[in-house]
Amino acid sequence: MPAPFFYNYVMDLQKTLTTAVSIAKEAGALLRDGFRQNKNIIQKSSAIDLVTQYDQDAEKLITTRLILAFPKHGIIGEEGSDLAAKDNSYVWYVDPIDGTTNFAHGFPHFCVSLALYTAETPLVAVIYDPIKEELFTAVAGYGAHVTQGEGAPRPLQVSQAETLLHSVIATGFPYDRHTSDVDNMAEVGRFIKKVQGLRRPGSAALDLAYVAAGRLDGYWEYKLHIWDVAAGVLLVQEAGGRIAMMNGDPFTPTARLNLMASNHKIYREMLDTLAG
Ligand code: IPD
Ligand code: CA
Ligand code: CA
Repeated sequence: MPAPFFYNYVMDLQKTLTTAVSIAKEAGALLRDGFRQNKNIIQKSSAIDLVTQYDQDAEKLITTRLILAFPKHGIIGEEGSDLAAKDNSYVWYVDPIDGTTNFAHGFPHFCVSLALYTAETPLVAVIYDPIKEELFTAVAGYGAHVTQGEGAPRPLQVSQAETLLHSVIATGFPYDRHTSDVDNMAEVGRFIKKVQGLRRPGSAALDLAYVAAGRLDGYWEYKLHIWDVAAGVLLVQEAGGRIAMMNGDPFTPTARLNLMASNHKIYREMLDTLAG
């Protein structure tokens, strides 16, 4: 007798997760090896938007493995991968190094980020920090987890902070901040007067993973790309947190995003502070 639909659904997504984890770890090992080597650093969209050969090599490795494992899925990657889905709407969003500026400067805070979406719905998320050997995973409807080193996966839950005064919040700054007025300075000025701590760790994907883990209480950032946040969005949602556009609109996986994440308790205060 065939297994019920939901059984197949669960098993397929878990299998997909396992494959994505092994791909992210393989790419992570490549980054770990390259981290302390001399790097060929190239400027991309602006003098402060960098790319290294490791971004390119890791994306090549990831897309080669994804195509082999999921030949009908689409792939959109930061370093140029753009493969249309063949006979369904499944798409992988790939950021081979989220935190390239950190990586290029020997600052040990960056990750590999992979997420599978069907249309606008996130299904599977993997964020791997190869230096701290932390693996963050989520499957839609089945929670978010962190695995440290060889340990067992532990469920993630967002923080219980009630107000911004009790919160540590992260943000980031867009690569066009030297020339654009939308540079996040006004928002930083308002938050710094209200929060317990404000951080700029330098990896949007890890910022979201840390919100999911309750290490940060909230996060916002302008002009993100979908590959920066595709995996982190599902982690936060599955850890019981809130994701929205910075104006309060529901999250949609568009090409450029102004995004915020938080627990439920400080959500309104964050939106009000963003509104000015
Ligand atoms: C960047 C990082 C950074 C964020 C930028 C992103 P990259 O990604 O996530 O924290 O502030 O907006 O573009 O360039 O290191 O992949
Ligand atoms: Ca990124
Ligand atoms: Ca990147």
